[in-house]
Amino acid sequence: MLSLPELNRRQWLKTTVAGVAGLTVARNLLVTPARAQHEDDRTAKRDEPARLGGNENPYGPSPMAVMAIVQNADKAFRYATKEEATKLGDLLAADNKVKAENVVVGSGSTEILENYAKWLSKQGSGPGGEIVSALPGYINFTGKMKALGSTIVTVPLDDNMVHDLDAMAAKVGPNTKAVYICNPNNPTSTIVPPAKLKAFCIEISKKCPVFIDEAYLECSDNFAENTMAPLVAAGHNIIVARTFSKMYGLAGQRVGYGLMPAAVAKEVAALSETRLNKLGVLAATASLEEMTYVSETRAKIKAERDKLCATLKELKRKFPDPQGNFVFFHTGMPIATFQEKMAAENVMVARAFPPALDWCRMSIGSPEEMALAHAALRKVFA
Ligand SMILES: Cc1ncc(COP(=O)(O)O)c(C=O)c1O
Repeated sequence: MLSLPELNRRQWLKTTVAGVAGLTVARNLLVTPARAQHEDDRTAKRDEPARLGGNENPYGPSPMAVMAIVQNADKAFRYATKEEATKLGDLLAADNKVKAENVVVGSGSTEILENYAKWLSKQGSGPGGEIVSALPGYINFTGKMKALGSTIVTVPLDDNMVHDLDAMAAKVGPNTKAVYICNPNNPTSTIVPPAKLKAFCIEISKKCPVFIDEAYLECSDNFAENTMAPLVAAGHNIIVARTFSKMYGLAGQRVGYGLMPAAVAKEVAALSETRLNKLGVLAATASLEEMTYVSETRAKIKAERDKLCATLKELKRKFPDPQGNFVFFHTGMPIATFQEKMAAENVMVARAFPPALDWCRMSIGSPEEMALAHAALRKVFA
């Protein structure tokens, strides 16, 4: 239930926002106070544990996205309309320099991963075949393909915990249905050098589709250089999945999208079994109008990530170079023991990622959560 001050704040936002016509006026009159209120909420002293296990973005959605949600809260009983979804798809197409026919908007990128997996399992001779992917890596797509009858061919990351593209290319054969690359990789947070990945994608996509999961790519230092979206625009058999859950701070609103060849996009979209979240679509659309907020958030996440790396270095922990909103580090103890020790200090960290069972993935939280995490790390590794 909403507390009174919270209710007043929402009422304030809603009534103040209503009737304001121009975006500039809205920004000057409303966004700044809304942002200040936002920051106040997030810096308030907290008794809750630091939730550093889910790779969420503690800075949350942009004030424009919050306003879109507040202004439309009374329409939450509706699904997103076709026009609302189309507007978002068109904006994403323009931003990524692809055609609207290349874009599929989904209920989180999970829906894109799963529906592409369903589509893929029906291609060629049907279910079966092999999916080449890295280990440790994100297991949603491979898990779905496995459930649909494929064999997962895993390739260990290299010594720097980066995808070993040469080793992966060597595993591609006549039975390969697709290659899956999570970039930055979950859980290691490492990124593949863009020129190398681009060459790999062009070469391998002549043989089978290459699925690039860019859920965390907006956190990376050079998004424009790192994204493989231009390869979709150029007509290669590449699928790029993205999400509003991470850098856009809208995890609870469930909006993601895929960029893929137009003929594939049409069939993948047709496999959707859900209707889109109205408030999510409106908030995602509003987010795209406020890219300064995204770059400010990226800078804040990077600043906290740098501080975490400094502490880990001081504590003599090994970790690969992170580019997502999380860091993967060596704990030197079973992850269950480490989780327990951190929980005793009120810090929640991620699950185990086999086979790296004495490593931990820690998300970048708010400055207050991170202060708790630094203190906990110092105590555990004292
Ligand atoms: C690599 C990766 N891809 C996709 C997803 C799915 O995100 P969502 O369904 O919230 O868009 C996640 C979620 O954590 C992820 O880590």
